[in-house]
Order: sequence, then structure tokens, then C-alpha cells
Amino acid sequence: MRLGVLTGGGDCPGLNAVIRAVVRKGVRQAGYEFVGLRHGWRGLLVGETQELNLRSTKGILHLGGTMLGTSRTNPFKEQLSPEDVLDCFEKVGIDGLIAIGGEDTLGVASKLAAIGGKVIGIPKTIDNDLSGTEFTFGFQTAVQIATDAIDRLHSTAESHDRVMIVEVMGRHAGWIAIYSGMAGGADAILIPERPFDIEDVCDAIRRRHESGRNFSIVVVSEGAQPKDGTLQIHSGEVDDFGHVRLGGIGNLIMEEIEERTGFEARVTILGHVQRGGTPTAYDRVLASRFGVAAVNAVETEAWGTMVALRCGEIVSVPLEEATGTLKTVDDDLYDVATTFFG
Ligand code: F6P
Repeated sequence: MRLGVLTGGGDCPGLNAVIRAVVRKGVRQAGYEFVGLRHGWRGLLVGETQELNLRSTKGILHLGGTMLGTSRTNPFKEQLSPEDVLDCFEKVGIDGLIAIGGEDTLGVASKLAAIGGKVIGIPKTIDNDLSGTEFTFGFQTAVQIATDAIDRLHSTAESHDRVMIVEVMGRHAGWIAIYSGMAGGADAILIPERPFDIEDVCDAIRRRHESGRNFSIVVVSEGAQPKDGTLQIHSGEVDDFGHVRLGGIGNLIMEEIEERTGFEARVTILGHVQRGGTPTAYDRVLASRFGVAAVNAVETEAWGTMVALRCGEIVSVPLEEATGTLKTVDDDLYDVATTFFG
């Protein structure tokens, strides 16, 4: 059996760990051969491949990024049908494919599986917004990076009596914001799931400062939305999957807080720092478990499924289920976070 492996969408810490796990398990225990497809779906479409074997995957466990490269190429944007994409399997000489990605990459995989494509999905994204799995690898590393940043901002906020706005990634879901905000002791956390009124945020900061605390930390997801008619936000360019380029709501919030409350404010946009660099031990282990489970899924011909974490166990779920709806922050967790606001 010759299997293709690709990594698509935004990169995340743990991608190399999962590639290593797939190859180790597949070559050593199942006798499979692998071929790397460069830059996500683009590699499959144009036949850009890379050697993937025990030698080429040595020493990569702890490395950030992806040795296969990635892109946001959407084959269906290029006017190709799922059948056309499946034809490319033969062109690059693969019998099946392990696709490592988030909602977009696995959404494509799901469409291929729907017409009988031999595809297994592995969930990755720092955003942790994929349904079907409790956690994606990369998330925990991003949360740790954001928490470390919040800790550092805390001390300088306190020294200067400032309001610090920390913008983290999270387009549709506020997982990074809620976890890093709680871990870092944020006074307000703004997430896409809960449209905010900037005046309420200012009131909470005023109350806190009146009670003798002279600084505040506000964590905001890049995809946080003001309540209708409360604040005007600008939208940017759109990618192949129709997503607007985000990053910048933190600036707006800083300006509004400064103007409305009179407190000095500063913004830090963490951006791609959250996606770069070495994965935490947790993410290395989760990625390794996913990689091994994906090869097991090939062996049992569980095509059309995605490996997932549920109640601490690795299971397989239909790709369709995993990509149907996004997993957003639940009310219970948000309510716990609010206990610590102000
Ligand atoms: O990986 C997902 C994500 O981190 C989103 O939270 C963010 O909006 C997006 O990637 C940024 O992607 P790009 O690298 O294309 O700017």
C-alpha cells in the first residue's frame, strides 16, 4: 500500500510529530510506503511530492512548522470536481491518503470520502474548533504561548496603571481566548460566540479601577464581534476558502477603551507567534497518538473517518460529522470564566 500524506491550512505545532508517527507506525508495523504531498492539496493537484520514509522523518518530533509545507489551496475553488481530485491519486501513484488539517482541509477530504475516496483525516488546528474531537493538537501549545504573554503583560500593566488588550487567534471560536484568559487571570474575555458591547466592557473596567485596582487585562479573540450597532469593524481580504483575513480588533478595542474611560491602554496582537515553534509535550503526545491511530484506521479500512480524542481515548469519527459544524465555546465554560472577571 502506498499512501499520500499532506498537511493543509494554517500550520500548527505538532505537525512534524504526527508525520513522524504515521511513517514510523506505517513502515515498521504495516509495511506501507509513503509519499509526501507538498503544500496541502496543491501537492496532489500538481504532483509536487516529497520523499517520506524513516530516514527523512528522523529528528523532527520537537520541530515546529511542517516538513511538507502547507497552503490554503482549495481544489474546488479551481473548478475541479471531487472526481477530478480523486483522479490525481493515480497520477501521483497513491492508493489512499492521510490528510492532516482543520475544517477546510478535512472538509475537502470529506467530499472525497463521500464519493468513495480512500481518505483518513487527522485533526489539527491551534483554534481547537473541530467537532468530533475534544482537542486538536497545536491548541495546547498556542494556549501556553498566549498565557506566557499575558503573564508578562500583567506585570507591566500593573507598573504603569494601564489596560492591556491581548488579541489572540480564534476566527469562529474563542477557545484560545477562554483558556489563556482564564489561565492568565484576565478581567474580560471577548470571544466570537458572545457578541460584546464595548460600553459594558468599559463599565467593568471602571468598576475594577474604582475598587482600587489600577490596571486591567482584556483578552480578545481576533474573531470577536461587537453587538449589532455598537461598534463599526472593518473587514479585509478573503482567502481561497472565503475566510476574511482577521487581526486588528484589538486596536479598535484599545482606542475605544482609552477614549471612553480615560485610562491609558495598550494592545498586543500575538498573531502567528501562537502558531510557531516547538510543540508542548502534551501536543507531541497527542499528535503521536493520532498518527498511530490513523495508520490503524488504514489497516482496518476505516476510510472516510477522522481520528479523534474522546474521554481520553483515541477513536474514529466520520469525516462528515467532524466537519459539519464547528465546535464553539460552551456556555458552562464561559460562565466559569466570568467568575473571575473584573
Ligand atoms: O490556523 C487557524 C488560524 O490560526 C486562525 O485563527 C487565523 O485566523 C488564521 O489561522 C490565520 O491564518 P493565516 O496564516 O493564513 O494568516
